[in-house]
Amino acid sequence: MSQPSFKTISVRQLTGAMGAEISGVDLSGELTDEQFEEIRTALFTYGVIGFRDQTLTFDAHQAFAKRFGTLEVHPIVNSLDGYPEIIKMHKPAGTPASFGVGWHTDNSFFEKPSLGSIVYGEVIPPVGGDTLFSNQQLAYETLSAGMKETLERLTAIHSANDAYTSPTALEKYDSDGPISYKHSDIIAQSVEHPVVIRHPVTSRKALYVNSMFTDRIKGWTREESLPLIEFLCKHAVREDFQCRFRWEKGSVAMWDNRMVQHAGLNDCEQYERTLYRVTVNGGALS
Ligand code: CO
Repeated sequence: MSQPSFKTISVRQLTGAMGAEISGVDLSGELTDEQFEEIRTALFTYGVIGFRDQTLTFDAHQAFAKRFGTLEVHPIVNSLDGYPEIIKMHKPAGTPASFGVGWHTDNSFFEKPSLGSIVYGEVIPPVGGDTLFSNQQLAYETLSAGMKETLERLTAIHSANDAYTSPTALEKYDSDGPISYKHSDIIAQSVEHPVVIRHPVTSRKALYVNSMFTDRIKGWTREESLPLIEFLCKHAVREDFQCRFRWEKGSVAMWDNRMVQHAGLNDCEQYERTLYRVTVNGGALS
């Protein structure tokens, strides 16, 4: 990837494939336009950006997110009381992680999938609970010319139905547990997105198929689609496309769903973990 230079922030790339940690900026303060533009450039270059030692009130968290666009109110996942645009991702000690576990792209079952999420860490286990990211532009670029040509003609059908009717999802509906869901018509709907998308800002192409929400290839049966989807989902998360974000109290991570897949890990059952997520609305993909 080409390496932009930055004047107002320090940027350290995380792996050869992707990801960066940014220092020298206080996200709770007024960012200058130049700082914000550099943060945005870093996001669209590295796919995920992390910040350490931040202190964000709910209002400051939302204010930072709003610089990227309008904020999403999730149609299924209930929000924090008084803050319809903030999801509290709370895992009490002694319970397994059951939200965002496994590789996926957030909300690819929307007509206009989320641009990205900004997550703030409040209570972090002493070990475990990292988030993995995988660069879907590299995933596309490393396919053969023949496969690229085939995929560029294909459209995929995405749906929340499987993910939001699984046994661990069903117990969240109308519950008073730490993360709760409400019923929504969107669960039964399906939407179409190209299998290869073009980033709306950088124009770089990326693979856009994920095992949580991609149901089948348009015009193909599910049985015909599965071998191709399984191949693409395995390829999409090759080790050399990835980076891993280790959370700390006060860490903030933001990722671009048009560039990356991510996966939460269920490896800290004995510990509490509390993160707050604000998600920015995206546009239609092409
Ligand atoms: Co997610």
